[in-house]
Amino acid sequence: MKVQVCIIGGGPSGLLLSQLLHLKGIDTIVLEKYSREHVLARIRAGVLEHGFAKLMREAECGERMDREGEIHDGFEIAHDGVLDRVDLHKYSGGNSVLVYGQTEITRDLYEARDRIGGKVVHNAEDVTPHDLKSDKPYVTYRANGETVRVDCDYIVGADGFHGVSRKSIPSDVLREYEKVYPFGWLGVLSRTKPVNPELIYVKHERGFALCSMRSQVLSRYYVQVPLTDKVEDWSDDAFWAELKRRLPTEVAGRLITGPSIEKSIAPLRSFVAEPMSYGRLFLAGDAAHIVPPTGARGLNSAASDIYYLYHAMLAHYQKGDDSGLEGYSAKALARIWKAQRFSWWMTMMLHRFPDRIEYEDRLQQTELSYLFSSEAAQRMLAENYVGLPF
Ligand code: APR
Ligand code: PHB
Repeated sequence: MKVQVCIIGGGPSGLLLSQLLHLKGIDTIVLEKYSREHVLARIRAGVLEHGFAKLMREAECGERMDREGEIHDGFEIAHDGVLDRVDLHKYSGGNSVLVYGQTEITRDLYEARDRIGGKVVHNAEDVTPHDLKSDKPYVTYRANGETVRVDCDYIVGADGFHGVSRKSIPSDVLREYEKVYPFGWLGVLSRTKPVNPELIYVKHERGFALCSMRSQVLSRYYVQVPLTDKVEDWSDDAFWAELKRRLPTEVAGRLITGPSIEKSIAPLRSFVAEPMSYGRLFLAGDAAHIVPPTGARGLNSAASDIYYLYHAMLAHYQKGDDSGLEGYSAKALARIWKAQRFSWWMTMMLHRFPDRIEYEDRLQQTELSYLFSSEAAQRMLAENYVGLPF
């Protein structure tokens, strides 16, 4: 089989790129390791920056997102028993974020690929990129016991943190930067009305908590837990009791609880791989970088990769201009590191660190009091949270 661009990974990054390129007449195939049901059962974050939403519309996938997504102009930070609001709209020059689940984004992208006959292979086993440094790279995979070969001009590695693409860059070329945080987030999804119209990020001496939502009837809550905790240790009752302890009394009083539909623990990690390209292979999204979820940057960081790659490939196929592809890694990394910095900063400001000295605790408190006493600091937070320009 021959295509122009072979995309490894059918998560939001791979699907969005495939859809955008297809609409411009560029032939792609997406090779996904798991079934569609498996991919759509993963619960991920739910805050979209406007740049990502714009790309979804450009990909002709924005209709349900615009109908069902909620525009949020701000969020709250609870600390020391009070709620302080971050006015995103005011401090970002009129921008906002869209609250719409990432699982729904992926579903919309799959449906769009179906509508226009996009090639997506599920349950592709042993996907392997070959000859990355030649001008005739190819990818092999196994399906139904047979090996299939896909010849292509370019390979995009959009196969997430555990994928095969990054690992196919030689170790003397690839440099990895990583910080692992000493805690995780225990998340619960419940069919209940959210406790607040806007998200509440909570800094508390018992640990961080977050009140988020997917819609007006579906809530998503998190509490910081030690990495040694197991989901089985946490009954629904224990989760709600711990969440209430961390919320300001007035908020805890109006929390509506219910059975969990999903409950899981995610460790927090910051990670960047450099470079993001090698020969004819280009990495995008979680394959190249991970952020802790505190700044809601995960999918939004993938968005700029997709935007740069999409435009670089258009320039190549439509004008024979390769400068975008050559500059992709440097350009993508410049924005990625800013998202890393912001996610690290939010994480350090709001969590409880078991090994911290008192001096650092005082600095952490000062970070928050400075934030809410300075319009410049709130502007910094807002412009990063709604998404830096591509
Ligand atoms: N071969 C083919 N596909 C693979 C392989 C492989 N060897 N390994 C992983 N995959 C698939 C995964 O099953 C998954 O569907 O690649 C896809 C990668 O999707 P994501 O992990 O969702 O990564 P990405 O599309 O870059 O999305 C980034 O999603 O995970 C969140 O926080 C993340 O918000 C960010 C966004
Ligand atoms: C979520 O809704 O899952 C969510 C929202 C904001 C974050 C992280 C997760 O910062």
